[in-house]
Amino acid sequence: MDKLTREAQAHGEISEAVALFKKELTEVYKGRTYNSIIKIVKFFEDTIPEHFKFEEEQIFPDILEKATINEMKLIKDLQQEHADVLRKFNQLKKISSECSPESDKKQIDTAINFSREILQIVNDHAYKEDKELFPLLKKYGLDLK
Ligand SMILES: [Fe+2]
Ligand SMILES: [Fe+2]
Repeated sequence: MDKLTREAQAHGEISEAVALFKKELTEVYKGRTYNSIIKIVKFFEDTIPEHFKFEEEQIFPDILEKATINEMKLIKDLQQEHADVLRKFNQLKKISSECSPESDKKQIDTAINFSREILQIVNDHAYKEDKELFPLLKKYGLDLK
């Protein structure tokens, strides 16, 4: 499968997963329990790190070889956002590891609100890639491989 198709597919999957999960989160947020946090952390773990890794190893280097100064800046910003999300995700794991089924509402809420913040950043990031990164893959013919 060529890179663009793979990337588009991965994007479709992650966007769908985020959309689906957001729907599910509406329910999760009504309950706001320890189980909700476990579900959220598992969702992030299953979708985010691998997706970032793929882009950083398979997509960004090829674009950087040909990129203009502005495009280099875009890639740098996207990489920074990956690092930021992963750092926040590690914080979330730490916060949730300190929760238990006996945790009070405030502690559970802190973890869940933080997860929402991450979800929002991932959403904005994916949107930026759709708008600005995909055209570069086309521009440089990286879909031809
Ligand atoms: Fe990304
Ligand atoms: Fe992405």
